[in-house]
Amino acid sequence: MRAVTKTVLGLGIAGAGVLGWASLVERNAFVLRRFDVPVLPDGAEPLRVLHLSDLHLLPRQRAKRTWVHSLASLDPDLVITTGDNIAAPDAVPSLLDAYDLLLGVSGVFVLGSNDYFAPKLKNPLGYLTRNFAKGVGTTQRLPTADLVRGLGSRGWVDLTNRRDSLTVRGLRIDVRGVDDPHLGYDRLDLVRGPASPDADVTLGVTHAPYQRVLDAYASDGADLVVAGHTHGGQVCVPGYGALVTNCDLDTGRVKGLSRWWPGAGSTPSSEAPEGAAWLEVSAGLGTAPTAPVRLACRPEATLLTLVPRSQG
Ligand SMILES: [Fe+2]
Repeated sequence: MRAVTKTVLGLGIAGAGVLGWASLVERNAFVLRRFDVPVLPDGAEPLRVLHLSDLHLLPRQRAKRTWVHSLASLDPDLVITTGDNIAAPDAVPSLLDAYDLLLGVSGVFVLGSNDYFAPKLKNPLGYLTRNFAKGVGTTQRLPTADLVRGLGSRGWVDLTNRRDSLTVRGLRIDVRGVDDPHLGYDRLDLVRGPASPDADVTLGVTHAPYQRVLDAYASDGADLVVAGHTHGGQVCVPGYGALVTNCDLDTGRVKGLSRWWPGAGSTPSSEAPEGAAWLEVSAGLGTAPTAPVRLACRPEATLLTLVPRSQG
């Protein structure tokens, strides 16, 4: 009986330790990932693209704000944010403060479900079992219009179901985005079509990397698709990886750089064909405040250095 008690006690202490690590340490251990992506024409100068996602920012999260502030020292040429910026109705001023130095750089953005609806209380481990088709499960609205106005007033381009073209450091960029596919808000019919013939590079942006969006972008000739939403699996198994993606993407692509081509979802392990798009999924910088744990999946931002295709 004593042995059983000791075992139960030991497991309880170990569990509390893991939970403490995941909620107090790893959740705030921000890291910058760097990838080179060979998508530019020969002879082009490298283009530095900073990708931020899933801040889920609360006004009290000063460490996160300070860390995001520090990213301006990377001197990016373009910033992409892929949604889930805020987690409370009063978080927009804090978010604009976090982005303040970056808002002076060319930028584009799309929205995620958590830019529309406040999170609701739930089991923190529900992330592992949540039915991804259900959306956010709450109807309390967030100040989405204030968020969009705040980002747009400093010059960032709203790609919510829109296409646009930018010129950054002499490179012509065809860029398209959708509203959050996790909520079924994506209007691919508004952004579909071949890339502009005079574009040097074509980018597709989405919050949630659902296959229908990736397939559409890839078949229209996107060179690079950028997404967030997955939180990298958020609560992962050390040495194994993610258990879920919170969408219909396979766990092998839950974060980091991979390839995508039309139909890749049905043959996830096969080799990428010639001309396949690059796909970068960010594990994001936060968690919903109702599930404040990250395990074996540090919060991250990504610096993508776009380089000529010949360097691939
Ligand atoms: Fe998120």
